[in-house]
Amino acid sequence: MSAAESGANKIFIGLLGYGTVGSNVYNLIQDQAVEIAQATGATIVIKKILVRDITVPRQDAPAGLFTDNFGDILDDADITVVVELIGGIEPAFDYITSALEKGKAVVTANKQLLSQQGFYLFRLAREKETQIRFEASVAGAIPVIRVLRESMVAADLTSVYGIVNGTTNYILTEMRRTGAKYQDALANAQEWGYAEADPTEDINGNDAAAKMAILASMAFHTAVVLDDVACIGIEHISALDISYARNLDLTIKLLGVAKLYDNKINVRVYPALLKKDHPLASVSGAYNAVFLKGNSIDEIMLSGPGAGGMETASAVVSDIVSIIARGTPGVLEDIAAWRELEFFPDDEVVSKFYLRLEVEDEPGVLATIAQVFGDHDVSVESVIQQGRGAHAELVMVFHPVKEASFREALEKIGELPVVKSIPRPIRVEGDGYEQ
Ligand SMILES: NC(=O)c1ccc[n+]([C@@H]2O[C@H](COP(=O)([O-])OP(=O)(O)OC[C@H]3O[C@@H](n4cnc5c(N)ncnc54)[C@H](OP(=O)(O)O)[C@@H]3O)[C@@H](O)[C@H]2O)c1
Repeated sequence: MSAAESGANKIFIGLLGYGTVGSNVYNLIQDQAVEIAQATGATIVIKKILVRDITVPRQDAPAGLFTDNFGDILDDADITVVVELIGGIEPAFDYITSALEKGKAVVTANKQLLSQQGFYLFRLAREKETQIRFEASVAGAIPVIRVLRESMVAADLTSVYGIVNGTTNYILTEMRRTGAKYQDALANAQEWGYAEADPTEDINGNDAAAKMAILASMAFHTAVVLDDVACIGIEHISALDISYARNLDLTIKLLGVAKLYDNKINVRVYPALLKKDHPLASVSGAYNAVFLKGNSIDEIMLSGPGAGGMETASAVVSDIVSIIARGTPGVLEDIAAWRELEFFPDDEVVSKFYLRLEVEDEPGVLATIAQVFGDHDVSVESVIQQGRGAHAELVMVFHPVKEASFREALEKIGELPVVKSIPRPIRVEGDGYEQ
């Protein structure tokens, strides 16, 4: 008789939240009970579920499981694992802290909270000799946190690139595929359920920045918080940029980039142009991917479906299984092994840029602009000039340059009377020049 059938060795769970992810976790645990029992020798029993309003009828889980009082879960000595799927900072932070204080293990999908308070929570878990796991907080069903914490310990990682926001990747893919304008591609993403009614955090890059703070912390064993990650979103990417990029054999992606420069760390999120043959260039639609580079591993890419209710639930259940299978704190909570890296300034990073400029269509304009760039040691790799009515458009790609020099040159270019639009550069990544 299997453990599931005998009911031997039950692990009691308190579920916080029964929304998109919480309800999928509940169902997955019921559906996969036999497989989980075979893998762990234990039966997972969801004993209580916290929601705001217990009078609302819920599907699947029996009404008797629901409570609106967190104390019912915290004070239940049978419950050894608390699964937080409420989201946001409070009361999630308070609930997780209280659970860890009591020595309960915690599983969470809460990227906002981890990107701001992760270090504190890891330390607390360590002090209380328990675990906090959060595979579901980054990249949906892709087991990237597990790979970083267990498989990459000796990889001597130097950079982590992530396409970690499915909404923006879907929008950019549709813009490239159909030639649609940004607003139309966003509306299409909302219609098909790939974007929230309020997609602000996705399109302005904040969601990706929170995930990159978590990934960078895990990859480089140092505390990186959301405020350390500068981000630029995709709102300003135009159909014209997409079409020029295609002509240059480049693809635009919203990239998270975390890199070590001389043992200093730099983490940012920005739209970047990738050569067509770069492994990340082919990650399309709502898919996510994380591309790791390290001295002992060369390059590794993990890709798969991004966050969705079921994918996220699968990552949550995998964390519960890990907790049951391994009762001791993992490498992750061992923050004694972490280090304090300094941050490498954005201005010092060497990048390659693409720039589209609307200019007066008159003789000598290109020479004037090239002169300003030359004065700042910024050299042009290629330029396309195209007439557009009374104006002309210059599409320029530059050789790698220190970002401070490029920004200074751009400020001067923006002041030239012949320049009709504010220049918006896009970085070109993966062209072999990177440090
Ligand atoms: N949805 C996804 O695809 C996805 C993907 C990756 C990560 N995540 C993360 O997963 C977590 C949950 O997301 P979700 O989409 O499942 O959220 P959701 O659908 O909005 O569900 C939230 C649940 O939490 C409950 N809740 C909210 N505030 C509460 C409070 N103060 N006290 C008690 N219960 C409270 C709600 O109760 P009521 O039902 O009574 O309102 C609801 O059941 C978030 O951290 C999110 O970032 C979600």
